[in-house]
Amino acid sequence: MQTQDVRTLIEQMSIEEKAAQLQQLATPFFKGASDRGAVTGPLIGMDVSDDAIANTGSVLGACGAAETNRIQQKHLEENRLGIPLLFMADIVHGYQTIFPVPLAMGCTWDLELAGQSAAVAAKEASVSGVHVTFAPMVDLVRDPRWGRVMESTGEDTYLNGVFAAAQVKGFQGDSGGTEVGKLISCVKHFAAYGAPEGGRDYNTVDVSELTLREQYLPAYRAALDAGSEMMMTAFNTVFGVPATGNAWLMRDLLRKEWGFQGPVISDWGAVKELIPHGVAEDSAEAAEKSLKAGVDIEMMTTTYIESIPELVRNGILEEEVIDEAVERILRLKQKLNLFERPYRHADEALEQEVIRSQEHLEAARKTAADSCVLLKNENEVLPLQKEQTVAVIGPFADHTDILGQWSWRGKPEETVTLVQGLKTTAGAGNILSAEGSRVEETDETLLKEALQAAEKADVIIAALGEPSEWSGEAGSRTDITIPRAQRELLARLRKTNKPLVSVLFNGRPLDLQEITEHTDALVEAWFPGSEGGSALADLLLGSVNPSAKLTMSFPQSVGQVPVYYNHFNTGRPKSEGRDGDRYLSKYLDSPNEPLFPFGYGMSYTTFQYSGFHLDKTEITRKDTLNAKVTITNTGTRDGKEVVQLYVRDHAGEAVRPLKELKGFQKIHLAAGESREVAFSIKEEDLRYWHPDMTYRSDRGTFSVMAGPNSRDLETGVFKLSDN
Ligand code: GLC
Repeated sequence: MQTQDVRTLIEQMSIEEKAAQLQQLATPFFKGASDRGAVTGPLIGMDVSDDAIANTGSVLGACGAAETNRIQQKHLEENRLGIPLLFMADIVHGYQTIFPVPLAMGCTWDLELAGQSAAVAAKEASVSGVHVTFAPMVDLVRDPRWGRVMESTGEDTYLNGVFAAAQVKGFQGDSGGTEVGKLISCVKHFAAYGAPEGGRDYNTVDVSELTLREQYLPAYRAALDAGSEMMMTAFNTVFGVPATGNAWLMRDLLRKEWGFQGPVISDWGAVKELIPHGVAEDSAEAAEKSLKAGVDIEMMTTTYIESIPELVRNGILEEEVIDEAVERILRLKQKLNLFERPYRHADEALEQEVIRSQEHLEAARKTAADSCVLLKNENEVLPLQKEQTVAVIGPFADHTDILGQWSWRGKPEETVTLVQGLKTTAGAGNILSAEGSRVEETDETLLKEALQAAEKADVIIAALGEPSEWSGEAGSRTDITIPRAQRELLARLRKTNKPLVSVLFNGRPLDLQEITEHTDALVEAWFPGSEGGSALADLLLGSVNPSAKLTMSFPQSVGQVPVYYNHFNTGRPKSEGRDGDRYLSKYLDSPNEPLFPFGYGMSYTTFQYSGFHLDKTEITRKDTLNAKVTITNTGTRDGKEVVQLYVRDHAGEAVRPLKELKGFQKIHLAAGESREVAFSIKEEDLRYWHPDMTYRSDRGTFSVMAGPNSRDLETGVFKLSDN
């Protein structure tokens, strides 16, 4: 079907058919769906006429070639004009082969790995009939109380942008998601969903335009620049107006300033939520405001099909606005060739061949091993020796709940647990296991069994964490410690005076003060996915040398939150005060610094930084500054190091962060090997948003810093001149 034909088709559509084309419904509403499902939760009370369903434009959450083909076939029999459905779903960190959650993926600092993981997810989902994935989620996050930090790649704008682009390329390939094995990417949630007050999901977001543009918007832009074809609105307010009804955000900025032409979809129910937000009196006003803001698809509420015909008849909405929205959706269907091939790449035979293939499982295992962060390793307790007897103790020792949220097609029974991974890799005879405690309750019997196992072991692994449903959507917590029962178990294990390794399964930065005190070694495993146990075995037994680095700061306590590396200096910086000074920006009861900083992670080997230097002390706007530093692997094992480059603008027209990540290189060094790493800095790297909303650099003094994390840095200084 050609573009002109799309317009011809729109002319044939009634206003009711146009309105329904803008509707997205979940699978229980579709005839032919194998599981009409218990109409529970948000679906309760949604009454949608058969006629509206027959004209609906897209489906949420259907997958499986048989399922999507069955729904599509029924739909084409009932749709007057033969307009096929689009199938959209949340393929966030894998389809059935589940990869580490994105916050873990970010810790790999490996863009190629991120792209490969997205490509594997796309391959499995596309043969299963999915056309569009609601990913990547690129919301900047600074508050670990918010459960959805697990879906983000962290607290840094630049890093989130490059990871967003890598994931979009992995999902879509080079032809915008149209080729076999690829998906259309719908980036989310626009905008600044990651900044809710109190870290409470769906809560108010109130950031300045300067902060919005400087910190929160760039990663969405990076995803669109990488070709993401769709955008999803956020639940929250921006400048006091809910994003889904925010014409400044969606029309002035997204469409006019950025030139985005693709479809915009609301988040689940976000259109009708304009009513409880308090900017719409009823469904009709919610529909009117969302459409005027440029939201093309209404997900899982029905204000559009209820209100559009009358809003147009009453002249409140121009039909042209509706036609534009319909055209964007039909164009996407046309781009995917759905009019000619409505069943597209859904293929039951291919599903058998592609899903959870050995190649995919290996990719998940490698990614997971490279995403686990070594945070402590006293007396080189790690890596373990194969001949050691190891007691794996804790509620997560043999637990399959290590896939993390948004892994709905992943099967716990197919997940490799920590104990299984160790037994397979090290030999079952060497591995003992005991639950030790429940996730939240102490149990004397379990404790006794655990201490007996510990008695027989040379080394103890404490497998601790939070259940996956304690993070993810609507998973906000005010207490970000490991549950008390598990901390008490760890303290009892510490008393055995045996070498003690703690492995953590969690979806957010936690307050780990009590954990770090009672353990010799500490591995942050996040939710490592289908091959989590195998990957951890590779890491703990040393066949993989850890190289991951944190992309979100771990606070000393929740009282510090938000704590992030690229903060401002303030007028009374503690770092510049004298000992005993009271009147400084500091706490009476806590350090200012996080327990583990952004960019931090250890290796089984050691790296030395030397010879840091800049090739100029002053540059013009046309020059390039070159910074070089030599890294030497001074240990006995080969390893990978993430060399990070930060810049500080010492005096701007607005306050500027003490440091901002401007580049990184992940390098492999053999034991004893040295390598010089070079970074170039141009004037455009020094630009920022000014109070007058212009994006430009200022002349003046800058610092350039290089090092293994955001704290331990070598510094050089240069000037940017005016000419
Ligand atoms: C949810 C999430 C969003 C997801 C959508 C569809 O409420 O906020 O990230 O893509 O609904 O499942």
